[in-house]
Amino acid sequence: RRLLGTAGTAGAAGLMAGAVAGGAATHATTGHPTPVTSVGATAVPFHGAHQAGIITPLRAQAIGHLAAFDLASGTGRKEAAALLRRWSAAAEAMTQGRAPAGDDQIALDAGPCSLTVTFGFGRTFFSRTGLAHRAPAALVPVPRFPSDAIDPKRSDGDLWIQVGADDPLVGFHALHVLQKAAAGTAEVRWQMSGFNRAPGATARPKTVRNLMGQIDGTGNPEPTGKDFARTIFTRRGGPADQAWMNGGSYAVVRRIRMLLGPWADLTRTQQEEVIGRRKDTGAPLSAPAGASETTPMELNRFTRGGSLAIPADAHIRVAAPESNDGAAMLRRGFSYHDGYRADGTPDAGLLFITWQADPEAFIKVQTKLDGADHLTRFIRHESSAVFAVPGGAAPGEYVGQRLLE
Ligand code: HEM
Repeated sequence: RRLLGTAGTAGAAGLMAGAVAGGAATHATTGHPTPVTSVGATAVPFHGAHQAGIITPLRAQAIGHLAAFDLASGTGRKEAAALLRRWSAAAEAMTQGRAPAGDDQIALDAGPCSLTVTFGFGRTFFSRTGLAHRAPAALVPVPRFPSDAIDPKRSDGDLWIQVGADDPLVGFHALHVLQKAAAGTAEVRWQMSGFNRAPGATARPKTVRNLMGQIDGTGNPEPTGKDFARTIFTRRGGPADQAWMNGGSYAVVRRIRMLLGPWADLTRTQQEEVIGRRKDTGAPLSAPAGASETTPMELNRFTRGGSLAIPADAHIRVAAPESNDGAAMLRRGFSYHDGYRADGTPDAGLLFITWQADPEAFIKVQTKLDGADHLTRFIRHESSAVFAVPGGAAPGEYVGQRLLE
């Protein structure tokens, strides 16, 4: 069930000169090869059945920017279509290592660095553009949960962009180009930036750690699993006026602050009981010594003392598909750190992004977690949004064309 691997390596054709260096460095202490020289050259295809940034590259990139936009007043379907056309052209160029129209040279010298740009539509987009009748039925608002502390100004939005890249300049460049391309049509409503581990930071590719120090991503659905596509992507066969969502997905975005002070007050054993996995290896607490993060968890195993090995309120037990009528999702987020709050605690946590064929999967699991998950005491959900993310554009097409043309 593990989602593990390195960024896909597409052809290096069309890269900016000097981006591809040969040879591989060697890890200073382990002697393992660290192929960091391929980081710049790696290009993720823009066109395809699904938009990039959901399952390509397989692992979320080292940096991520999320930006929601609201349409300017007086903007309708025609202007929105022109914007999506401009955005797609710029994203296609940049992700393939070419300069977009009117480039500002910020990312000059760099290859595409696994840049992906993913576009989504919020619920309000449809009424503002006269397309309410084509809004997907699944695009329901995420309800407020009892322990939520949601800031509406940093939630929702008409349009959404997710930028991911393995280089900070490449990521900023893409966001900046796209924001400028929106001028006059849409304004930034909120923007958040996050990060994961840089490629080459570990001797071999590993599941990332979050800011609580846990290995995070182990239980994600396996791309080779038979239910994977059905879990993540919308299927053909719905009503004709929603066919534009074929091959698409729904992104639920939650900014979740971690209460790192109270978390640090727990012993390591207590921290492991909150999640249900060991911190060092990520192995489930139901597994014997020497197990790894891929060892399947056994929810019905008891300790010699007679208590559940994975406690009743452990995060992985409460969140697992087995506890939620099979509801499953792909978690692919970014950590964030935005300085310090007035009380001296870090404003840091997880830009939690899940991908699912129906946002109902997230709502079902979060409803359960909010009441029963031990982790709830150490986190605060501070913003919330859900976006319909259409399928990928075919060559010559722009993202969302089947909705907007
Ligand atoms: C598993 C951390 C929020 C759903 C995990 C794991 C960790 C973790 C460490 C175990 C390793 C893994 O499978 O990835 C966190 C943290 C959160 C958070 C730090 C907040 C800051 C959420 C939320 C949801 C969620 C809001 C869904 C509504 C899941 C699921 C699993 C999981 C489905 C896999 C369970 C399984 O093994 O089947 N999480 N999580 N998590 N989490 Fe979270």
